[in-house]
Amino acid sequence: MISKETINKILSVSCIEDIIGNFIELKKSGVNYRGLSPFSNEKTPSFIVSPKKKIWKDFSSGKGGNIITFLMEHEHFTYVESLFYLAKRYSIKINYNSSIKKIFKINHEEHEKLYTIQDYAKRFFINQLFFTREGMKNGLNYLIKKRGFNIKVIHRFELGYASFSWGSFTKKALEKGFKIRDLKKSGLTIYKKYSNNFFDCFRKRVMFPIHNLSGKVIGFGGRNIEFSISTKYKYINSSESDLFQKSKILYGLFQAKRNILKEDLCYLVEGYTDVISLHQSGIKNVVSSSGISLTVEQILLIKKFTKNIVLFYDGDSSGIKASLKGINLILEQDMNLRILFISDGEDPDSISKKYSISQLKNFIAKRSYNFISFKEKIYSKLYKNDPIKKSYFILNILNSISKISNLLQRELYLQEASNILDIRQEILIHELEKINKRNKLKIISFQRTKKSVIENKKIQNPLFIIEEKLIQLILNHGNKIIKKEKHNTTVFKEILHVFKHWNIRFSLNKNQEIFDGICSQKNENKTDYLLSNNKKNIYSLSKLSKWDKKGIKVTDPEDKMNQYIIDLLLRYKSLYISKLIRKEISNYRLNKNNDREYFLKKIIYLTNIKNKLYKKLHRNV
Ligand code: CTP
Ligand code: MN
Repeated sequence: MISKETINKILSVSCIEDIIGNFIELKKSGVNYRGLSPFSNEKTPSFIVSPKKKIWKDFSSGKGGNIITFLMEHEHFTYVESLFYLAKRYSIKINYNSSIKKIFKINHEEHEKLYTIQDYAKRFFINQLFFTREGMKNGLNYLIKKRGFNIKVIHRFELGYASFSWGSFTKKALEKGFKIRDLKKSGLTIYKKYSNNFFDCFRKRVMFPIHNLSGKVIGFGGRNIEFSISTKYKYINSSESDLFQKSKILYGLFQAKRNILKEDLCYLVEGYTDVISLHQSGIKNVVSSSGISLTVEQILLIKKFTKNIVLFYDGDSSGIKASLKGINLILEQDMNLRILFISDGEDPDSISKKYSISQLKNFIAKRSYNFISFKEKIYSKLYKNDPIKKSYFILNILNSISKISNLLQRELYLQEASNILDIRQEILIHELEKINKRNKLKIISFQRTKKSVIENKKIQNPLFIIEEKLIQLILNHGNKIIKKEKHNTTVFKEILHVFKHWNIRFSLNKNQEIFDGICSQKNENKTDYLLSNNKKNIYSLSKLSKWDKKGIKVTDPEDKMNQYIIDLLLRYKSLYISKLIRKEISNYRLNKNNDREYFLKKIIYLTNIKNKLYKKLHRNV
């Protein structure tokens, strides 16, 4: 979606030693720069940056590449995020191309607007915390005296305060020029019908901004500072939106990611305050699932940085339940897991306040268990003297073991289970095989139904049918010349032109691969051999034009081919646009917070294109 020119500009302007120097200490060494590898724990620097070649190479991990690959490896940005990062850094304006891509541009700009609001809100709340009487008295006092947070950690997590007044944030933001429509969308302002007025969503609360991986604020959690009937909820959070989806984020990950990499370990806690307290105590590789039950997306987010998780949930029954629920999910993602067992009434926040850092580390080491001994600790009282219950418990453990894909680990856990449960290993293996068989059957039948559903859909879907025809055309008649109003072109070139101009990819990977293959050969000028060439075309075209001059209508096969291709492409485009429209509508329906006006604009824009295509299609038929 970003134009080639912009990408080239970004790459040529970016200064690789400058960007990498932000993350790693580099020293000049000859024509190159040298530093300690961020991807391993080395003592002698083997990480080299060459400003001349604009590349980096890390000899200890074997990684290397250009500035983009560095940002992708080190910051875990996507390709596009890396480009945005560099463009912002060097104040390069991003250009997009082609009409359909406008949609993406609008989307991007819309997102940027929402980020700007979140950022403004963050600064507003910080300002209130430190520089207003109410903020200092209620907010800062609460954080420092009641919660024991120090100023450094308050700054690090960019904590703030939302005041008691009904609309101080909204008023200020409107004065600043933000639009009410966008404020509503950002989840910070709410419209109340009965009083026909706008209100701040967060009032009389300490504010915890929630950052995405690159440090931008995407939402807030707000905690009330006193319990009273009027403030029912201890925490409220920004409502879910495109920007803010609780299931896909981990609180604290932005602040923790370097430390997770360094320690090759991540602590997972329940709450905002747990993250901050542990961080303040010196344990900085910690994130929180923000009180929702752990999702696969969140686990995979951690897996970007480490394979080792320690669950450190509250010691109450809901904390234990959450731990138990997380076990299989984590094992299924091929992660190594330990779980802390702490007493009821305790949580990471309270524990980290009780101990010094070395005591805390001791405590954690002593109280962390593998999943088998953790489950045993919880369930042993229940199954004591009851063989039936014990047999269920064993199946529960085996079910967890069946999620482990690493054979060696599986074996070791079986040994552990055999010791702890006092059951012969052969028996366990026998039962485990039964479970595996059952799982396999489940997977196969699931895949079968899934596959047949997909195949049916494909057969019925006209978009797929046209795609197949286009591929056939390219392969059989790719070099055939077709006549257009102003110039002639070939079948292949015409299809390529439409796909490029509209930024379309084939829906079937198989077809896209064939298409890519032909394109790359085309670049090496080999297409002529690949595509069948019909030299007679030129001749018949000239013959045709003579007939035309005489006003005689002919249905020449070439003429038919022209018409056929144009018709096919028009139909394809209109189906493609319909698909986009359907997608927009279902996105809109899924997401309550979407802006109706913006949505309608998009739909109108797409529908206009569709109508134009439709007209053309019927004029031609
Ligand atoms: N949470 C929430 N909404 C609530 C309650 C909890 O979003 N009404 C989320 C918050 O992210 C919170 C986490 O669940 O941090 C854990 O909840 P809890 O243990 O009740 O909160 P703590 O973080 O321990 O808060 P505190 O120490 O301030 O009591
Ligand atoms: Mn808690």
